[in-house]
Amino acid sequence: MSHRATPRCYLMCRPTYFDVTDSETPWMDPDEPVNTAEAVSQWERLRDRLRGLGHTVEELPARPGLPDMVFSANGATVIDGRVLGARFSYRSRAPETAAHRAWFLSHGVAFHEPEHTNEGEGDYAVTASHLLAGYGFRTPLAAHAEAQEFFGRPVLSLELVDPRYYHLDTALTVLDRAADEIAYHPDAFAPASRAKLRRIFPDALHASASDAAALGLNAVSDGLHVLLPHTAHGLFPALRDRGYQPIGVNVSELTKGGGGVKCCVLELRGLDLHKNTG
Ligand code: ARG
Repeated sequence: MSHRATPRCYLMCRPTYFDVTDSETPWMDPDEPVNTAEAVSQWERLRDRLRGLGHTVEELPARPGLPDMVFSANGATVIDGRVLGARFSYRSRAPETAAHRAWFLSHGVAFHEPEHTNEGEGDYAVTASHLLAGYGFRTPLAAHAEAQEFFGRPVLSLELVDPRYYHLDTALTVLDRAADEIAYHPDAFAPASRAKLRRIFPDALHASASDAAALGLNAVSDGLHVLLPHTAHGLFPALRDRGYQPIGVNVSELTKGGGGVKCCVLELRGLDLHKNTG
């Protein structure tokens, strides 16, 4: 199968104030020291990689006191130019919503305040046929119905059961949106959700336990190039076999905060910023 890259627009937030002060996920140990300068350089390399592939990367200004703000994917979900804001489950992250809101409004884009808790693209993924939606740890099922109505797309609710894979984007990634091709780690999902995935995506790539544990599914694909942590060794040949071009990136420092490549990259689908800013 041959795949094609399409130009994307992303929103990223420099980890200026990145730190691990909590243990909201099993990935995080507040006693392990964080090298913020190294986190910044890993982040810059990721941003430059995306720009080098021809994508637009916008920058959300970091705010002090918000150590998780680098995980911009959690602040909103953007589809067809419509923005559904996040409502964080941890109070410590709640003020990030205001930063996202301010950024979108300053670009002339309406920001819809959600009624239900949801952590943006952390728990929502877009394919041609569905809005895939995670629940079980952060985003409740009630939010899925809200997203379905807001975006006018059928939601496929998927139950996450392993605390290491607390967000959908740690357990599943969309490789080729147009072709409806995804990769996921079956054990991260409840049996009924696994059955749904098998039925709807019979040709999906299944990631091994070790590739999932390397946060290999926390990946960003433009339809052809797949940026993923360089330590997810098994995914590289598997992606190449399917006609993708995997690109390994080192996000070791950012992973101390519980996120990988994808968490740092919010996709702005269908937003024409130049048109919106006039
Ligand atoms: N420490 C952050 C949290 O627990 C990590 C979020 C990572 N983002 C992601 N999309 N998985 O909320």
